[in-house]
Amino acid sequence: MSDIKFYFAPMEGVTGYTLRNVHHACYPGVDAYFTPFIAPNQYHAVNPKEHRDVVQANNAGVPVIPQVLTNKAELFLWSARELKEKYGYNEVNLNLGCPSKTVVSKHKGSGFLEDTEKLDRFFDEVFSAVEAASSQSEPGSAENIYPRISVKTRLGLDSVEEFVEILRVYNKYPLSELIIHARVQKEFYKGEPHLDAFGDAVKETKHSLCYNGDIWTLEDYIRIRELFPSVKKIMIGRPLMANPELVQELQAYEECMESGREWNGYENSMVLLKKFHDKLLQGYLDRMNGDGNNVLFKMKELWGFMSRQFPEKERLIKKMVKANKIEEYERLAEQVF
Ligand SMILES: Cc1cc2nc3c(=O)[nH]c(=O)nc-3n(C[C@H](O)[C@H](O)[C@H](O)COP(=O)(O)O)c2cc1C
Repeated sequence: MSDIKFYFAPMEGVTGYTLRNVHHACYPGVDAYFTPFIAPNQYHAVNPKEHRDVVQANNAGVPVIPQVLTNKAELFLWSARELKEKYGYNEVNLNLGCPSKTVVSKHKGSGFLEDTEKLDRFFDEVFSAVEAASSQSEPGSAENIYPRISVKTRLGLDSVEEFVEILRVYNKYPLSELIIHARVQKEFYKGEPHLDAFGDAVKETKHSLCYNGDIWTLEDYIRIRELFPSVKKIMIGRPLMANPELVQELQAYEECMESGREWNGYENSMVLLKKFHDKLLQGYLDRMNGDGNNVLFKMKELWGFMSRQFPEKERLIKKMVKANKIEEYERLAEQVF
């Protein structure tokens, strides 16, 4: 086994518990699945949808790390305790990356990166409380009321230069790890990740770093590994939805390199991909009590990512995702595979 850890990135509306369970069953090997964010509110209640997504009964045997989106220390501390005590999680991740306008306008997600003094005060309050509760035990341990706290961040809002100050704040606090999506807010998901700025972060950080952004192929992965050999954690989102077998390929490559064998490439299994697809369809049918429209919506979303594996089937896929009956969808999906 290589010492590289692979994480499935959180994706709101996409990587809910059904997807995570099916992925883990078909393609074991991902070290942690981060949940789409939970947004705690003043009423201190986890809403029913969020509850279903994080409750252990729906995540049995799957390594999951829940993510929280807030800019209020008190709400973050409450959710961290709740997720540890009631839901049994030893690590909670703070979302400082979401670029969506509605989130940013409330100064949350990457919007919180705008004001580093406020960010500093937030962490000061959070870690003062955690420290006060940690004289006898480490956060994340059975005796402690708090889990470990990690952060997923972007490099800034408008420019990567902002990250110098942001990182200075992160370096003051005992984060369990720092995941960097190497883009700024205004880029959303477009353009190339800023590898130079990530490289600066590698030099300046006091934290255990995880790289995230546009690892679509083995070649992309090798480039990141060669540029940043000290980084041992890799998070992948959209590319893993496009090719659910990608982490297995990267792991096979790592194992091959370690054993000194020659790399002869990797063949994805279409049989396994069909199994993944069929299990996911069934998972959504079970969860949504056969509500065809909603299930078709979820499958359409999947094909938004996966269709790039089938360039020659473009027309058939277009027809399939327009299907308005499950039976028709299934018939066309058979043809695609
Ligand atoms: C539809 C969608 C939803 C996302 N939701 C979240 C989220 O809830 N929390 C988060 O931290 N990042 C979220 N992200 C960002 C991803 O986790 C990831 O950082 C981004 O896609 C870049 O990685 P990739 O190139 O491997 O996809 C989302 C991205 C997409 C495309």
